[in-house]
Amino acid sequence: MVSLDSPITIIRPEIIEFGVGTAERLGKWASDKGYARILVISDAFNATRVDTLGLKGEITVFADVTPEPDTANLEKVLAAANAADSQLIVGFGGGSAMDLAKLAAVLAGSSQTLREVVGPNKVHGPRRVALAQVPTTAGTGSEAGIRALVTDPETMAKLAVESIHMLADIAVIDPALTFTVPARTTAATGVDAMAHCVEAFTNRKAHPMIDLYAIEGTRLVGKYLARAVKDGADAEARAGLALASLYGGFCLGPVNTAGGHALAYPLGTRWHIAHGAANALIFPHVLAFNTPSVPEKTRAVMDALGRKTSDDVQSVFDAAYSFCADLGIEMKLSALGVPDSDLDAMADDAFAIRRLLDNNPRDLARADIRSIYEAAY
Ligand SMILES: NC(=O)c1ccc[n+]([C@@H]2O[C@H](COP(=O)([O-])OP(=O)(O)OC[C@H]3O[C@@H](n4cnc5c(N)ncnc54)[C@H](O)[C@@H]3O)[C@@H](O)[C@H]2O)c1
Ligand SMILES: [Fe+2]
Repeated sequence: MVSLDSPITIIRPEIIEFGVGTAERLGKWASDKGYARILVISDAFNATRVDTLGLKGEITVFADVTPEPDTANLEKVLAAANAADSQLIVGFGGGSAMDLAKLAAVLAGSSQTLREVVGPNKVHGPRRVALAQVPTTAGTGSEAGIRALVTDPETMAKLAVESIHMLADIAVIDPALTFTVPARTTAATGVDAMAHCVEAFTNRKAHPMIDLYAIEGTRLVGKYLARAVKDGADAEARAGLALASLYGGFCLGPVNTAGGHALAYPLGTRWHIAHGAANALIFPHVLAFNTPSVPEKTRAVMDALGRKTSDDVQSVFDAAYSFCADLGIEMKLSALGVPDSDLDAMADDAFAIRRLLDNNPRDLARADIRSIYEAAY
């Protein structure tokens, strides 16, 4: 763990609009800036309600973002962005649409390719187009961050691009946009937000300045996720989750996730399990595994989730497992169509994600990862 006097860099969008009914403020902001040619990057569902953003001018809508987008989906987005030659790019959707909007904002019209910018700080600036992000799920916190993830279909690994040039000029977070998220996706994306907070809080690089957001984000998910799953139109619960998601995004920039996300990624890249659902399935296993290394922080997490535990690893596991299972999330790998013959390849893939595993408070050997997949099966 680092201490209070450890250096840290905090990067945030210049403007963050937050609250029910704020979506149309994007249009006013864009008009004031004089942006007349606008490209909205969205998924099929959100593309049908771009008018809620109040944008004016020549508006092009890309409606084909797919969940957990791959490089082919990004190529389509880049073709649309090159053709639109817009002054403003808007990411309108979940993490999938927002991540592709980030990449379009820096790669369209650039001489750099995706392969050349994978990793931290490879993108050449300055960016030539403005970027706005409007999340419609409460999960990724991508609206506040500088990372974008795309799946490489050949290696089935997530390519992670990290650059200050992908930071939004404005993030407009209107919880009303999430009222339509189905219960299953609400549960999965909410656990994703919580996982960002918990993995940053128990991280080797955890920092007091970020712990504040991490523990409050966890508390918000503990208080509101079950409510929003039960009643999608519960505005207070939706707002609590939108805030938790934003706080999770704040955690990702300077600290990032750890073992939980590393073990969840192969479920998404190899078996197309939704990102949040994969995180939920892995969450109790890694939290329990890490408990001996971070007992106090683990207790704080379980308190924030409103679940009583003892210091015993099994009680942490049981409480974290029931938190996810009570939301209706499938907690067995075998029930998600993953064959047990793939567990070795999944363990190899997860073990290779050093950028996250090296953040984990307790070393996760390949054998530990394989055992966790076995236990989750
Ligand atoms: N950049 C980051 O820091 C970061 C962090 C975490 C995850 N991610 C990435 O984000 C992606 C996952 O994003 P996600 O979990 O938000 O899901 P998503 O964007 O893939 O959306 C999931 C599904 O929900 C639908 N949907 C979105 N908003 C809706 C709404 N309001 N009502 C009804 N349906 C709606 C979409 O059409 C889609 O079918 C993954 O690729 C993951 O790797 C990025
Ligand atoms: Fe995530």
